[in-house]
Order: sequence, then structure tokens, then C-alpha cells
Amino acid sequence: MKKNIITKSVGSIYRSIFLPVTKKVNAKVSASIPKTQLLEKHVKNAKLLPSRKEMLDLFPKNAVVAELGVDEGTFSEMIMNQTQPSKFHIVDFWGSKRYNQMKRQKVETKFASQLKDGSVQINLGLSTTVVHDFPDNYFDWIYIDTDHGYKVTHEELEAYKDKVKSGGIIAGHDYIIGNWDGVVRYGVIEAVHEFCLKYDWEIIYLTAELDNNPSFAIRRL
Ligand SMILES: C[S@@+](CC[C@H](N)C(=O)[O-])C[C@H]1O[C@@H](n2cnc3c(N)ncnc32)[C@H](O)[C@@H]1O
Repeated sequence: MKKNIITKSVGSIYRSIFLPVTKKVNAKVSASIPKTQLLEKHVKNAKLLPSRKEMLDLFPKNAVVAELGVDEGTFSEMIMNQTQPSKFHIVDFWGSKRYNQMKRQKVETKFASQLKDGSVQINLGLSTTVVHDFPDNYFDWIYIDTDHGYKVTHEELEAYKDKVKSGGIIAGHDYIIGNWDGVVRYGVIEAVHEFCLKYDWEIIYLTAELDNNPSFAIRRL
């Protein structure tokens, strides 16, 4: 009974105070994000895949690869096991309370032998700073999973565009309007569409997970 009353009060505070503020903030963020309409040529070869696992199956093997934003390396392990990169750059700054240096240590433990033989390298820092470590036409493909907001995703796409070989792939996570749990407005979809239109890239894969956010992959037309 007491528990019920507390739950109802928390729910009512959430609906009357937190939700309206969040809605207002998100509406403002949403309005500030440029909206670009893709053309048929940008989607006509797009293939819908069950999950990013199947997407990895279609990516080049023994390739030069980067994952931007790795947390403790769960997806990095999938990349490693499924695609055996010839060189795998792990890019992260591990600079927040949630994604901290403990996560970095986990990655270092996970890839200890590959870090030793040089097939895996940690490029520590913000993705848009670390980008200067890489020559042009270097990567076969990259996977972006950092901030998910419009501004950073836009900057990352611009920064890594010339770092990817011609015919190379830029992929990423969170091709979705926002985070339902944290009620955060993302901007990956808009940044990707704008980039495709501006530089003539096409969407080649989208994924359709129910237990994870969707991923995208794009390539020069
Ligand atoms: C959602 S987690 C990555 C999850 C991982 N890709 C996976 O699927 O297992 C996001 C990571 O991006 C990192 N990050 C956030 N913004 C970044 C930025 N601007 N540059 C580099 N790393 C960033 C965080 O430190 C965190 O480790």
C-alpha cells in the first residue's frame, strides 16, 4: 500500500516536472538539427539486416579498421573475432564517470596480446582530435559509436571522410531518433543523411535489432 503511494507520487512528479522540462529541451535540440531529405540514389542499394552481427559478416576481412567509442570493448571483440582486422585502432577518451579509465583497463586486458604484437592500437583521445594520427585513404572501414548527438557525429563524419579509402565504409551505431531510457535526443540519422547528400554517399546497410539500437553503413556513390 505504502509502496503504491510512493510509486504514484514519483510518477506524478516525473510527469508534472521532469517530463515537461525534458520535452522542452528535446524540442529545442530537435529544432536546431538540420533536416536533409535523401534522394532515391542514396537508398536504392540499401539492405536491411537483422543485426550488426550480420553487418560485420559483410564487411571486409583482414582490413584496416577503427572503432570510435568502445566502452569496455564488447563490440570490439565481435569486430576482432568476426573480421580479423590486419590493424585495429581502438579510439576512445574514457573521460566520463560512466566510461572511465577502468573501462580502458578492461580493453587493455582483453587485447593484451594484440596490443603487444601491434595488431591492435589504442588511440587515446577525442575522436576528432585523434583523427590527425591517421593518414588519408587509410581505413577500409570504421564504426562510430561515441556521442550520438548531431554536432559530434557531423564533425566525425567530416573528419574521417578522407581517412577512409575510396570504396571504404563508414558505419556506426544509434541510427535512431533518441534514447528512450534517458530521453535524450540523438542526431545520428540527420548527420548521416546530410553527409550522404553533401558528398554523394549511399546507405548500404541498416540493421533492425530489437535488443539494441540500429546501426548504419554508408559508402561513396
Ligand atoms: C556507447 S559506448 C561505446 C560502446 C561500444 N561501441 C560497444 O558497442 O560495445 C560510447 C563510448 O564512446 C566514448 N566517447 C564518447 N564521446 C567520445 C568522443 N568524442 N571521442 C572518443 N570517444 C568518445 C565513451 O568514452 C564511451 O566509451
